[in-house]
Amino acid sequence: MGVLRESADGERRVALVPEVVGKLAASGMSVLVEHDAGIGAAISDDAFAAAGAEIRAAADIYAETDIVLRVGPPTTAESASLRRGQVLVGLLRPWERLDAVRAWAASGATSVALDYLPRTLSRAQTIDALTSQASVAGYRAAIRAADVYGGYFPMLMTAAGTVRPAEVLVLGAGVAGLQAIATARRLGASVSGYDVRPAARAEVASLGAKFVDLPGVVSTSGSDGYARELTAEERAAQLAALDKHIARSNVVITTAQVPGRKPPLLVTAQAVSEMKPGSVVLDMAASSYGGNVEVSKPDQTVVVDPGVTVIGAGTLASDMAPAASQAYARNLAALLALIVKDGAVVIDPADEVVGAMLATYDGAVVHPGLSEAVSATPAAPSVPSPERSAP
Ligand code: NAI
Repeated sequence: MGVLRESADGERRVALVPEVVGKLAASGMSVLVEHDAGIGAAISDDAFAAAGAEIRAAADIYAETDIVLRVGPPTTAESASLRRGQVLVGLLRPWERLDAVRAWAASGATSVALDYLPRTLSRAQTIDALTSQASVAGYRAAIRAADVYGGYFPMLMTAAGTVRPAEVLVLGAGVAGLQAIATARRLGASVSGYDVRPAARAEVASLGAKFVDLPGVVSTSGSDGYARELTAEERAAQLAALDKHIARSNVVITTAQVPGRKPPLLVTAQAVSEMKPGSVVLDMAASSYGGNVEVSKPDQTVVVDPGVTVIGAGTLASDMAPAASQAYARNLAALLALIVKDGAVVIDPADEVVGAMLATYDGAVVHPGLSEAVSATPAAPSVPSPERSAP
């Protein structure tokens, strides 16, 4: 198998780490690692080589390996190097790059998108890279917000008087949100959490945070455990009810996503304008096709009236590349245990875990939502939209 250097701007993670390379090598697998692939995660070529990897050029890796391991997707140009039967594995976000998906299918490569893992199956949990990466990102979100905020998170009683704890509001209490809540609590803040899924109430409370009740907004989740998109009326009621909670918070962290859809808007420009000067808003959903905060900009920090710092933070897991790569590599080791049998790659489309993750197989786009999107969009793809890109 081969590990490539990530090509996306600002991506510092790497798909395998020496600890996992050592285990794979000990079980008889041969691991090729692209020169400098680990540099962003503080892993040198020497450390990979000492664990048993061979350091090689990307072209050799595409030409000689059965399995190509990545964190994020290859570009369309890189995808042209894939070979028939070769297996591409990563958080491939295929619904965002239909041109690359076509290239994977045309090459005859098998693409395994970890994004499609059926996460609720217990067999899948060790492979769950969405959870491992969201967990790192949620932790980092709270640390980053605390760093930017000019006040204390904890309550302090000092000779100069008592300092009240920061009021932190976390919107979206999934994997990342719960980790942000737990981290802000550990730093001593007074924390509130909100989510549309009913199950989130008990999870938020179990971390010692208050759950925000929004009268008039129907709590909901789909059959897969994920949130469903709210109706226009529900969205309007939610925005109106959230405003006063946002206004009294010193720090707001937003993490809300609905798979394959544009992230829901939760913090309007008006809500930000009603916050106190010095407050911080961190939007983990900020991306080029929208975010949870109307005034956030992806990968940028802006200060808006009346002096609120708004952080568009889409790359938080990459900011902690050593920890994130370690967790990701363990997820991949668990996947490899499913698809490598007696030294040979065996992809079983009928397997409920492996089959669900297949984006392309044997020259065709096989994921149902994706093949629909590919046939419906003959030209170069654009950003996902509700009509055509549910994963
Ligand atoms: P995600 O990253 O897709 O979304 C983050 C959060 O935003 C979710 O909790 C979602 O309910 C919330 N959200 C969406 N729209 C919202 C809105 N309009 N207002 C407020 N909140 C909104 O989700 P994530 O964190 O990847 O997973 C969500 C849930 O899926 C988990 O909390 C869990 O219940 C389930 N899950 C189950 C697993 C298992 O059974 N092993 C593993 C991972 C996730």
